[in-house]
Amino acid sequence: MPIHCLNQSWILETKNMGYALGINSQGVFTHAYWGKRLPKVEDYPTPPQAEKWASFNNAAHLTPEEFPTWQGMKFTEPSLMLNFSDGVRDCWLTFVSFDTQDLDFPTLCLHFKDEHYPLNVDLYYQIHEEEDLIERWATVTNSGLEPISLSRLFSACWNLPPGDQYHLSHLTGRWNDEMHLHREKLTQGLKVIESRRLTTSHHHNPWFAIDEGDATEEDGKVWFGVLAWSGNWKLTAEVTDFASTRVHIGWNDWDFAWTLKAGETLSTPRALGGFSEHGFGAASRALHDHVRNRLLPHGKIEHPVLYNSWEATTFDVNERSQSELAEIAAEIGVELFVVDDGWFHGRNDDSAGLGDWWPDEKKFPQGLSPLIHKVNDLDMQFGLWIEPEMVNPDSDLYRAHPDWVIHFPTRPRSESRNQLILNLAKKEVRAYLFEVLDKLLRENDIRFIKWDMNRNVSEAGWSDAPGDPREVWVRYVEGLYQLWGELRQKHPQVMWQSCSGGGGRADFGILRLVDQIWVSDNTEACARLSIQHGFSQLFPANTMEAWVTDAGKDLLSLEFRFHVSMCGVLGIGAHLAHWNKVERQEAAKHIAVYKIIRPIILFGDQYRLIPANQGGLTAVQYVSKDKSESVLFAFRAHLPDPVNLPKVFPRGLDANGLYELEGHPQVRSGAAWMEDGLPLTLGNFQSMLRIFKKIK
Ligand code: DGJ
Repeated sequence: MPIHCLNQSWILETKNMGYALGINSQGVFTHAYWGKRLPKVEDYPTPPQAEKWASFNNAAHLTPEEFPTWQGMKFTEPSLMLNFSDGVRDCWLTFVSFDTQDLDFPTLCLHFKDEHYPLNVDLYYQIHEEEDLIERWATVTNSGLEPISLSRLFSACWNLPPGDQYHLSHLTGRWNDEMHLHREKLTQGLKVIESRRLTTSHHHNPWFAIDEGDATEEDGKVWFGVLAWSGNWKLTAEVTDFASTRVHIGWNDWDFAWTLKAGETLSTPRALGGFSEHGFGAASRALHDHVRNRLLPHGKIEHPVLYNSWEATTFDVNERSQSELAEIAAEIGVELFVVDDGWFHGRNDDSAGLGDWWPDEKKFPQGLSPLIHKVNDLDMQFGLWIEPEMVNPDSDLYRAHPDWVIHFPTRPRSESRNQLILNLAKKEVRAYLFEVLDKLLRENDIRFIKWDMNRNVSEAGWSDAPGDPREVWVRYVEGLYQLWGELRQKHPQVMWQSCSGGGGRADFGILRLVDQIWVSDNTEACARLSIQHGFSQLFPANTMEAWVTDAGKDLLSLEFRFHVSMCGVLGIGAHLAHWNKVERQEAAKHIAVYKIIRPIILFGDQYRLIPANQGGLTAVQYVSKDKSESVLFAFRAHLPDPVNLPKVFPRGLDANGLYELEGHPQVRSGAAWMEDGLPLTLGNFQSMLRIFKKIK
């Protein structure tokens, strides 16, 4: 059992990580250790205890707590803030008991209660031994009769070992340019990243990696974590005046309120945390394994090569245009044909139609069936785009139910892309969407759905809310999970994709429902390299849908564009009818190669050999779990000539095994390939793909 229970203290161990926590002699629930697994249980420190240092720095302020509440002389960030019905906002939690449970994985549950009020808090620590991760969440229960108002409830507080020289890595971006890796030194005070947009956002992601300023891809200590949530979230990294650093992660408390009525319980989303002593690469691989092993609904299936018609035909979708594209797609080896926006009632541009989820009578006079049959006859599966959370004011749905949208009745409803957001916190809205989408899936053989969301929220009102209208932030996302979950359960044959104008809803919460993510609307392959590099910090290649399009085609060869997209779930989004015979033949060749190496890319270990955010040269490698095969891609964007390109050093091979490299005369040991490296001979905007095979 990876949970060791001592005298009111606990040691949690995974394969390589140790985590110690406990109740100190002052009765405070403290953090003791997070780092490399130690040889013996007795090696771990006991729960620390701080002394009062000055009248301005009480012991309470100096103690590293696992789940601090706002109480006493504490001025650091609390995990929980609330208001009891008599106006008392101070929360004194005392330890009651603990138990261990088998909730699929070994789980430690610690029970606390308020000293005076009928409030219970349970803190969960679930151990993912193999993946070196701990999953944490909290539940808060009102066991009395008076309501309790919550104004903050985070999922976890992660304390770093004492020190104030830490660097925070996180992802920043915007629409069409998401997921850029950013690293900065943490200084005294609070660094906040968050979303207030009702969705995860293109701008930041609920992921962090913290190092001591010296970690690389393969070396150095890295503490990291994510939040599994697809709505408003907040991450605070706090360095105090006493060189202590901690990260809080959870629901955003901005405009947050929750009324916990008598007998009710509220559970936070899950937070995952891990520690790697082998740099950022190992941290990412732990998260990749977790996503593939534990989250994805269809697990480790080989995702089909898809074609998506959006960039080719935009809203000009009809049976003829799609059939023509489908024929060419089949000819080059595509396995799944996806019709994007523009297929449903009244949809000719972005001003109308959202909400009316049945085929447009003019574009598809006999419904979608003839096209689906055609696609199936071409030996491809059929997929479709929807955007269920949205409604255009110019739609039958909005005309019938203008009050279903998120709005304040006395304020104008700000439209974005001519659309408003349906309030998924409302039961009747979910019921309508379930009915209309269930019908669509029952009546048509659809195997893939791209679920889009093309705006962020405004006027976040819910006038007939049964509780505090600010609960909309959480209840909307819970409603989304519920609706999506019910559709998924009823139609298990469907594979789903999460899209929000590209990568606006990419997180570990949505990955319990979908198998892949549309990472960015930016499909220009050079720009994509850095976006994919950021995405790979936490998401594995089998969740990364990547299309070859016509973007950048004057500068970037078809080979380069294919190689970039082959680093994930390969898709094509170009206008195939505009490709000549030679281009189609070349595409068919790349797709055939991809199908051979697909399992290595989708399920192997990923090594970022030359990070894409450090100049014009980048390389990435995938190694099958048994180390028998490996694929290496290298890309050169623009670098002024003359230039001496460095060698690239593969990783993850079996040092004692013998490997042949396609196109290379010499068979060498894994150690030789890794230590001596491979020369790179790439001109500007050229790419290379090499396959290693272990022969002994
Ligand atoms: C935004 C998506 O990211 C695009 O791929 C496309 O599906 C459009 N929406 C359609 O409106």
